Amino acid sequence: MERTLTLLKPDAIQRQLIGRIVERFEAKGLKIVAMKFLRVPPEMAADLYEMHRGKEFYPALMRFIAAGPVLAMVLEGVGAVNIVRTLMGSTFGPDAAPGTIRGDFGASRRYNLVHGSDSMDAAQREIPIFFAESELIDYDLSVDSWIYARHGRKTI
Ligand code: RTP
Ligand code: MG
Repeated sequence: MERTLTLLKPDAIQRQLIGRIVERFEAKGLKIVAMKFLRVPPEMAADLYEMHRGKEFYPALMRFIAAGPVLAMVLEGVGAVNIVRTLMGSTFGPDAAPGTIRGDFGASRRYNLVHGSDSMDAAQREIPIFFAESELIDYDLSVDSWIYARHGRKTI
């Protein structure tokens, strides 16, 4: 099953939105397979955002992600990468559609509450930055049989 790295960034923690944001992922049917509350050290921030190194906003992004604790999660589900991106909305709150996390809670072009891996390749690269293999918990969610249908050998 597909897995994706999701972060609640320092602004989400400071604004005490953990419950309201995590609730959306759970309500959608995504399974939490790992969760960790931590301060992001500079080397970890640099790893996560290596594709943005050298860009004009990079120094501000590095300061933002290290400005306070974050909640890191691995979420699992059929199409989890795209589902999380859709729930997050466009990068900045002013552009993000109502009903999305950024659209409902964000108004800034810097502080944007959440991170989600943008592809399956990115998820495979990003998850080990935050979690050891042993921290990813395999378990069945009994409700899965009502979240997904079976179609032959496929879960849809
Ligand atoms: P994220 O990686 O955090 O999930 O966000 P994203 O995919 O929607 O956006 P991305 O293009 O990957 O940018 C990563 C983060 O860098 C900051 N950013 N600032 N022009 C700017 O000032 C600018 N562009 C990007 C944002 O914090 C964005 O989430
Ligand atoms: Mg990104």
